[in-house]
Amino acid sequence: MTETLLRGRLLTFHREPADQTDTEAYTYLEDAGLLIRDGVIAATGPFADVRAQAPEAPVTDHRPHLMMAGFVDTHIHFPQVQVIASWGAQLLDWLNGYTFPEETRFADPAHCARMASAFLDLLIAHGTTTAVSFCSVHSESAEALFAEAARRDMRMLAGKVMMDRNAPDGLRDTAQSGYDDSKALIDRWHGRGRNGYVITPRFAITSTPEQLRMAGALAAEHPECHVQTHLSENRAEIAYTAELYPEARDYLDVYQRNGLLGPKTLLGHAIHLEPREIDALAETGAHPVFCPTSNLFLGSGLFDDAGLRQRGIASGIATDVGAGTSYSMLQTLNEGYKVLQLQGQALHPMRAFHWATRGNAEVLGLADRIGTLDAGSEADIVVLDSAATEAMALRTERAGTLAEELFILQVMGCDRAVAEVYVSGTARKRAARPKDRHLMPEPA
Ligand code: GUN
Ligand code: ZN
Repeated sequence: MTETLLRGRLLTFHREPADQTDTEAYTYLEDAGLLIRDGVIAATGPFADVRAQAPEAPVTDHRPHLMMAGFVDTHIHFPQVQVIASWGAQLLDWLNGYTFPEETRFADPAHCARMASAFLDLLIAHGTTTAVSFCSVHSESAEALFAEAARRDMRMLAGKVMMDRNAPDGLRDTAQSGYDDSKALIDRWHGRGRNGYVITPRFAITSTPEQLRMAGALAAEHPECHVQTHLSENRAEIAYTAELYPEARDYLDVYQRNGLLGPKTLLGHAIHLEPREIDALAETGAHPVFCPTSNLFLGSGLFDDAGLRQRGIASGIATDVGAGTSYSMLQTLNEGYKVLQLQGQALHPMRAFHWATRGNAEVLGLADRIGTLDAGSEADIVVLDSAATEAMALRTERAGTLAEELFILQVMGCDRAVAEVYVSGTARKRAARPKDRHLMPEPA
């Protein structure tokens, strides 16, 4: 048995808070103990109480920093590490001009392995302990990501994209091979370590109707797996989809008629929705995913968070790197705040930090394991320093409340505000400093 006791300020959410006065929605402790036993949170509470339960455990003192559940990123593209910050295009030109050519490089397993290690180092450096990732069309890319996540005992949800048309040579599967390769990856990786397989038809434009039919069949055969794709991100994308699927009632119907919608379905972007599509989201329990830095970068549009919430639809929030411009969920919340401001909507910092942790975990159906610091949760923890930069330190001097401090982290924070990250109870951020990159120690 291995035990570690962390000491610091602690914030964890029990449900979505309306604002800071909604104190039953969260626990905040000024001097907390967090006991980790064999990669799982064994106890949290006032430091003295938890210390009494584990008098021999070595203590790591993070005071005055703030311990929180590790961030959960519900939509990101692992093969886009080297296309982030590509200039001047909207979605379809960006895909054709930058992204598809880049993803062809993932036919090479050595490239996949190098990028998987770098990708997970980046997630950890930014405080993200679970991600839901698109891989490239090549099984090798999913293999590399799952293998590297397993090596770090990191909870990873991912799938190879299925795409059998409207993509260059070297980046297409077929309806049959996409099904077969996905099924083989499910058999090999789903539930192995902390990995979960996500059935991943990339989007309507790059799949034939036959491929979407087979993706739906795969989802029916594997109800334990999530499904992810893209929906209504860009006007030209929507118009092209309507041409390709003239029989569909709307964009979402392309997925709905193929059995791809349910509570385990994640739909990236979901910006330009018709009333019937919103009804269908509410009825099926599928989850839109808000990707603010990406939506601003590609000029895609403004996600109607309040409109969807009003219909009882639970959305995720995510980076969408490489159209997204930061790995940081803090920066994602920052840009999310601004996207909502442009629509007269609000993103209170208490709700923002709930969203990036427990809220996203609930969207994934994993709130019993990640997204909180409750006893029994997996020990994925981010330690935040709200005075990480000179500018933040000066501003934090004038912060009078927890909500103010959180808002400073949300607006000004990035990887520098992430002092440490624990993945399954092992400190990983210091181990991932640039000089040590790609030399991560094996999990104990
Ligand atoms: N739609 C289909 N593929 C992609 C992608 O890689 N990024 C984004 N932002 N949208 C997509
Ligand atoms: Zn995406």
